[in-house]
Amino acid sequence: MLLISPSLVLASVLVILPTHVHPATVSSTVAQTFLGIGGSGAWWPHDLFTFPDSVRQNLSSLLFSQSGLGLSSYRYNLGGGGVQVSNPVRAPQTPYVSAGVYNFSADPQGTFFLQQASSFGVPGITMFINTAPAPLTSNKASCAGQFVNGSGAAFAKYAVDVAVHWRSAGINISYISPMNEPDNSFGPIPCGQEGMLVAPNQRAEVVSSLWNELNSRGLATAIGILADETSSTSVAPTEYGAWLPQVVNMVAHIVHHAYDFPSDANYLNFVNAAHSASGGKSTWMSEICCSLGTPSGTGRGYTQGYDPTINNALMWAGLVFQSFVIGGEAHYDAILDARFEWTGMRSYEELDLSDDG
Ligand SMILES: *[C@@H]1O[C@H](CO)[C@@H](O)[C@H](O)[C@H]1NC(C)=O
Ligand SMILES: *[C@@H]1O[C@H](CO)[C@@H](O)[C@H](O)[C@H]1NC(C)=O
Ligand SMILES: *[C@@H]1O[C@H](CO)[C@@H](O)[C@H](O)[C@H]1NC(C)=O
Ligand SMILES: *[C@@H]1O[C@H](CO)[C@@H](O)[C@H](O)[C@H]1NC(C)=O
Repeated sequence: MLLISPSLVLASVLVILPTHVHPATVSSTVAQTFLGIGGSGAWWPHDLFTFPDSVRQNLSSLLFSQSGLGLSSYRYNLGGGGVQVSNPVRAPQTPYVSAGVYNFSADPQGTFFLQQASSFGVPGITMFINTAPAPLTSNKASCAGQFVNGSGAAFAKYAVDVAVHWRSAGINISYISPMNEPDNSFGPIPCGQEGMLVAPNQRAEVVSSLWNELNSRGLATAIGILADETSSTSVAPTEYGAWLPQVVNMVAHIVHHAYDFPSDANYLNFVNAAHSASGGKSTWMSEICCSLGTPSGTGRGYTQGYDPTINNALMWAGLVFQSFVIGGEAHYDAILDARFEWTGMRSYEELDLSDDG
């Protein structure tokens, strides 16, 4: 929560401000509450885990401690097992062995940073999922396939079993996002990353199955459901009608990505459309990554690259501004690679993340 003291009185200084400086109005009432600013553990944990423990600890401290970035949100990527994914960095192991059988030693990279986020006290931990385990998907792979109608209960049991495991280990997973970018299967095989298409008319089954599983285990209030992480703000509202009305009461927050890099006007259009489709649910910006571009906002777009200067920092600040100020959103997550650029973290290049999303 951000509270600004009402005692600041600007009137006496206004007369000497240069003409290009705009006066601020400071109110004693809270205008907006920020619930979280954070990032996703995808896909960098794979690489960073190879460093000695002392370096991993330092990185965790830089990300999560109050003397570092002090992120207030972390998104743990529950691995899908990487079947048919050619890039090992984007193919995390899954704990799923078979129905109801798990190996929780799998994906030591992802679970290490999940545990670090928790032990540094990051308050908001989400578990997000790119794909169901391969045996449940249409093509028995971790990409290029589709959610299978009728598999929602098995998929939900897996997700909740994993969340319950980590919660019993003291890690307070408080949200599950079951479909990361359901509009993209990330095919063809061999794929560059995990993914699973969930057609708009299949998304209600995913959400309702997850809610039913949480509810039957007494967790429907402890763990909120986030949906649907569609890649772009222009596409998401065109698909809400196919699923959202059926499950709107089961969704905690509407989450979206912004890979269309919308203008301010289009960002606001999206937020308004999401509010109207959901009866006023709050929207969260849950993933963006990898843009170069200028401080004034031109040249934004999905671009892998490395610019540790203030130019890129200001470009990115503009993206955050759209979410918090234009859209009035309460929560912002970036892919952490983008945050490394934003902070100008000198180790970004040394850690060789430049080919890694
Ligand atoms: C960890 O950070 C401390 C303080 O910034 C530094 O002195 C130390 O060299 C770092 N250790 C490693 C292994 O990077
Ligand atoms: C569980 O996963 C870990 C990490 O990949 C592996 O070393 C171990 O052999 C697996 N255990 C079983 C029983 O498969
Ligand atoms: C877990 O997280 C939720 C939501 O962020 C919070 O309300 C709850 O107090 C947390 N529980 C613990 C034990 O930290
Ligand atoms: C899956 O279920 C949805 C919702 O009932 C339906 O609209 C869709 O046609 C089904 N898809 C397939 C491939 O059967």
